[in-house]
This record gives sequence, structure tokens and C-alpha cells, in this order.
Amino acid sequence: MSIRCLITAGPTREFFDPVRFVSNPSTGKMGFALAEAARAEGWTVDLVAGPVALPEPAGVMYYPVVTAEEMLRQTDALFGPCDILIMTAAVSDWRPKVCQTQKLKKNGQGLTVEFEAVPDILATLAERRRVEQVLVGFAAETENVEANALEKMTRKKVDFMAANSVAGAEGAFGRDDNQLILLGKNGFRQVLGPASKREVAQQLIRQLSHHLAARTR
Ligand code: C5P
Repeated sequence: MSIRCLITAGPTREFFDPVRFVSNPSTGKMGFALAEAARAEGWTVDLVAGPVALPEPAGVMYYPVVTAEEMLRQTDALFGPCDILIMTAAVSDWRPKVCQTQKLKKNGQGLTVEFEAVPDILATLAERRRVEQVLVGFAAETENVEANALEKMTRKKVDFMAANSVAGAEGAFGRDDNQLILLGKNGFRQVLGPASKREVAQQLIRQLSHHLAARTR
């Protein structure tokens, strides 16, 4: 069975003038490792990534984006034919309401920027999913990791959530290793790692592969 997998990775940037933005420390490593593992599994992979400093993985279709709005548009355009969506991207939750056309001049004073919520890409796509599509979210949490991930799985109407602690020095951002708790509807729970992000990615793709195979049996 040929599987088409859509993966998002990295942060988004939300600008309030042409050279200044808000973002987060996501490096894209987990998403890129998943893209490689999915490719190694023989899947066709579309990778939509925010600004990262990683080499483009071989054998995948690569779509670089910058803002949450661009990520939504690109992911939306690729969602229809995909069998699995894995959203590892750390989408910026807010964006400045206004982006100035010229660089703001500093004047020794503070600056107040008003923010608005960005669209929730995963929840938006989940609203118009086909029933057979598998949707996997990532929940980066600093506290109550599992409970928060379960709540997000239900609220965003997705099949799996990979719960990821980003608390303190042990947090996952930028590190080469990781530990995930993969939570599924119907009470599925599997701890992946701790191991390198590469290995954790292979374990996650294997789990999803089993899930797909069990469904078609
Ligand atoms: O930020 P949050 O914890 O809600 O993220 C959970 C999941 O939702 C992640 O998979 C993330 O990629 C996705 N998400 C999204 N659009 C947003 C915020 C998060 O698709 N605006």
C-alpha cells in the first residue's frame, strides 16, 4: 500500500516590521527526522517547514514557509491526498495585529505590540478531514504533559498526540534526543525513547505504520 505523508516542522515567524518578528526556539529536528524515517518506510513525503537551519532531507518534497498563514495555505494545499498528517511544527500562537511596512525607528522608549491569534492549522484541517486520514499532533508542554496532550487530542479532533515535555533544561527544543508519549484515541499509550530524535522518529513511524496496517486488515 502506498502511503502519502504530510509533515510540518520548525517554528513560524510573525513579523511586526520588515526585520523584526516573534517566534520560538523550535529547530525542526524532530520533523526532519520524521520525514527521513517516513521516507525510509517507503512513504511519499511532503515536508512543510518554517525557517530552520537544516539540510533538506533527500527524497522528500520540500516546501519552505515563514509565517503561520503561509504554513496553513501550503499545508491546506497538500492535505487532500495525504493519508497521514504529522504536525510537529511549533506554530506561533499569536501574531502582531499590524506589520509596519518600514523598519520601526527606536527612540529610547518601550514598544507595545498588539497580538491576535493565528489560525490553528491542525484544528482547521481536522474539520474537513476524510475519515480514513490519520492526524497526528505534537503537544509541547511545560507542565501536566499527558493531561494537556489528551485534552488537545480531543479538542482538535485528531487521532494521535505525541506529548513532549519542553520544561526547563530537559526540554526538547533544539536537543538531539527526545522522549515522547504517543497517545491515541481509545486509550492507546506508548512511550517512545528516550533516544535520539532519529530513533524516536523511527519508532513513531513504525507505530503509525502498524496502525495503518491494522486498519486495512
Ligand atoms: O500549540 P499547541 O500545543 O496547541 O499545538 C498542538 C498541535 O497543534 C501541534 O501539532 C501543532 O503543530 C498544532 N498547531 C497548529 N496550529 C496552531 C497551533 C498549533 O496546527 N496555530
